[in-house]
Amino acid sequence: MNKKITYSFEYEWYPTEKDLPAEDRALLQAARQALKTAYAPYSRFRVGAAVLLEDGRIITGSNQENAAYPMCLCAERVALAAVESEAPNTRVIAMAITVSNEKTSVQQPAAPCGACRQVISEKEQRQHAAMKIILQGETGPVLLLPSGRNLLPFPFGGELLS
Ligand code: THU
Repeated sequence: MNKKITYSFEYEWYPTEKDLPAEDRALLQAARQALKTAYAPYSRFRVGAAVLLEDGRIITGSNQENAAYPMCLCAERVALAAVESEAPNTRVIAMAITVSNEKTSVQQPAAPCGACRQVISEKEQRQHAAMKIILQGETGPVLLLPSGRNLLPFPFGGELLS
């Protein structure tokens, strides 16, 4: 007999970043700073990510494009790769992501692409703990998700490879 299974999760919605807890606001601010380091001459769409480590350090990443378009690196994966090279095996408590578009003002949160969701999910698996996800456009509402898993309920799992 088949079963119907519901997937649901709770997340927080804040009308502006002013209403966020100070630690989350600071992380979002670091992500906004990281926008400046984006190399996005092709899309003109900048993405900044900042991760808070368990020891309080903040590591950032930004999107890095290439004339060979598929080589483009997303900000979220740049940030997580930087964590493993700068602070190997350190737990990531939270990731803030923000975007800007040269052609228009982005007033809504942008969620990470599928590939980044997969990488976030594997980091959560490795560290046996959830990573809070904080999303905001240039301005406007902020979404606070308790875990990257909320964005990717059925990740591909490395356990299948053993
Ligand atoms: N991008 C990111 O950095 N993160 C995402 O999750 C989605 C897309 C970048 C890649 C490319 O440089 C630009 O945004 C437009 O797709």
